[in-house]
Amino acid sequence: MVHIKSEEEIDLMRAPCAIVRDCLNFVGERIKPGMTTKEVDELVYNFIKASGAEPSCLGYCGYPASACVSVNEVVVHGIPDGRVLEEGDIVSVDLCAYKNGFHGDGARTFAVGEISPEKKKLIRVTEECFFKAVEGLKAGTPLFDIGYKVQTHAESNGFSVIRSYTGHGIGREMHEDPSVYNFGRRGTGMRLKAGMVICIEPMIAAGDWRVKVLDDGWTAVMADKKPAAHYENTVVIREDGTEILTL
Ligand code: MF3
Ligand code: CO
Repeated sequence: MVHIKSEEEIDLMRAPCAIVRDCLNFVGERIKPGMTTKEVDELVYNFIKASGAEPSCLGYCGYPASACVSVNEVVVHGIPDGRVLEEGDIVSVDLCAYKNGFHGDGARTFAVGEISPEKKKLIRVTEECFFKAVEGLKAGTPLFDIGYKVQTHAESNGFSVIRSYTGHGIGREMHEDPSVYNFGRRGTGMRLKAGMVICIEPMIAAGDWRVKVLDDGWTAVMADKKPAAHYENTVVIREDGTEILTL
């Protein structure tokens, strides 16, 4: 079921979403070679707690950390551990905060030191996929226009779109309806309504789109071991456009 948020509810979502935004910026300024993914998670946990919010991911379906920290060929749901970030890696940080009875959700892919031109392009195109998707988005837009725009931009740059993970509605629950696909046919799917709040999150691979989940049940790795990137924001659908709460 899709929950349409009132203006009061959207106002309550501003705080958790601002914490997600600030936490992503805070972490992005501190990522450097030599840091472990566990240390990234500690930054996230401490930041969210100090902001008076709860890390929604911690304990969600048994997930053991406050952030997903996914390096290179890990596209999403990397579990923080002792892995050391090295110059040339890319690292995706995905986190959610809970405050005022609502969740906020966002993700960024960061460069660790100097990275290859291909990885730079992958990060740039993944972000562009998000902005292509919100361009012209408003109440009445068919849901799959989002996926169409993400897929078209990714593939026209020689990249591919992960099929097995999607964006989602968000609110009192971290994952609400509808699922927001990163691929699809223009003009199809439900018409978005004003007051819907959705997470648009392109997950884009430099190589083939096929993913394998490791035995830990979470870590999603590109089957061909090529790098992948992730960019996500929490977005309000308005009559005349969108409002991005995590930017
Ligand atoms: N933030 C992720 C999303 O966009 C959810 C991570 S799964 C979790 O859907 F288990 F870590 F919470
Ligand atoms: Co999300």
